[in-house]
Amino acid sequence: MSYKIALLPGDGVGGDVLEAAKGVLDAIGFEAEYIYGDIGWEFWKKEGNPLPDRTIDLLKSTDCCLFGAITSKPKDEAAAELAPELRDKGFVYSSPIVGLRQLFGLHTNLRPCKAYAGNPLNLRDDIDLVVFRENTEGLYAGVEWHPVPENVRVAFDSHPKMKRFGDVANEDLAISTRIFSRNGCRAILRSAFEYAKKHGYPTVTVAEKPNVIRETSGLMVREARAMVKEYAGIELWETNIDAMCMWLVKNPQDYGVLVSSNMFGDILSDLAAQIVGGLGFACAGNIGDNYAVFEPTHGSAPKYVGQNKVNPIATIRSAKMMLDYLGETAWAAKIEAAVARTIREGRLQTYDMGGTTTTSEMAEAIATAAKEA
Ligand code: IPM
Ligand code: MG
Repeated sequence: MSYKIALLPGDGVGGDVLEAAKGVLDAIGFEAEYIYGDIGWEFWKKEGNPLPDRTIDLLKSTDCCLFGAITSKPKDEAAAELAPELRDKGFVYSSPIVGLRQLFGLHTNLRPCKAYAGNPLNLRDDIDLVVFRENTEGLYAGVEWHPVPENVRVAFDSHPKMKRFGDVANEDLAISTRIFSRNGCRAILRSAFEYAKKHGYPTVTVAEKPNVIRETSGLMVREARAMVKEYAGIELWETNIDAMCMWLVKNPQDYGVLVSSNMFGDILSDLAAQIVGGLGFACAGNIGDNYAVFEPTHGSAPKYVGQNKVNPIATIRSAKMMLDYLGETAWAAKIEAAVARTIREGRLQTYDMGGTTTTSEMAEAIATAAKEA
């Protein structure tokens, strides 16, 4: 069967790492129709929209998407880079990858963090974690205000804890909400428990902060306690997010599947990535019920553009996750074996690993190893 796959290079080194991963897919003989699409900073500057409608239509016509990297800047800096004729027209920048996750209901951000034998950057060699990050709600839902409109202010003032802010003017207040839905909590927990069951992990750890953020973190933890009853043989561990960060540095080998909300999961997955080599190895799948976008966790690294320097392994592993999603597990296993072998042999190391291997040399070596796998 031939697949239709959207390729979105995005910004900075996104294009380089995407081509590197495509090279590996081509080398193993995986056949697909690839269609390139527009996303990112260039389109924000030119069109006032980093996620053009044509790109959304393109994604809707494909089986899934492989994505490079994106530059995201805060509101005012973004506004300053808009083409002069687009300024003061009401365009507001928001991250296109966060937008894609919400638009396509990609509720699960799956981020495997495994220590490959021979990687000099491993904190320990026996780490095998998978972070499940809720991907469409929470603090990144985008429900926020500054200044706070009067009708919103009135609603907030009905909460007794707002009394302390009674003297603060609306224009001196900024509010970002943390919204969890029961279904949103269940969707990410379901993904985490199902993964633990399928891959034989004995524990699922929910990392939240219900002792302080009682309502939202509380909902997530209560739903986790209800759901674990459906999974005989899997234990639910509950850890506060701050302590989780400490445990991940202290005893990472004790953990398997971690599950958290959007922002905590964002932070936790960078930490988890670093203990197994850093963002150069960190792959991700944004997975919903009907569509999925695979991407390296790293950003667009503008200072390395055009230098053929960054580590392509994060994107190559994301392509491997894409093959798993498509059910092409035999091909996925070839890429996994090739990555593991190339790291284990240790001849090639990109700059982040302390070496001088280029993006394309690393990708070509993995492609050759995948053909032999
Ligand atoms: C990630 C990134 C993104 C996020 C940014 C680029 C918007 O940090 O995928 O982890 O916060 O989700
Ligand atoms: Mg992040």
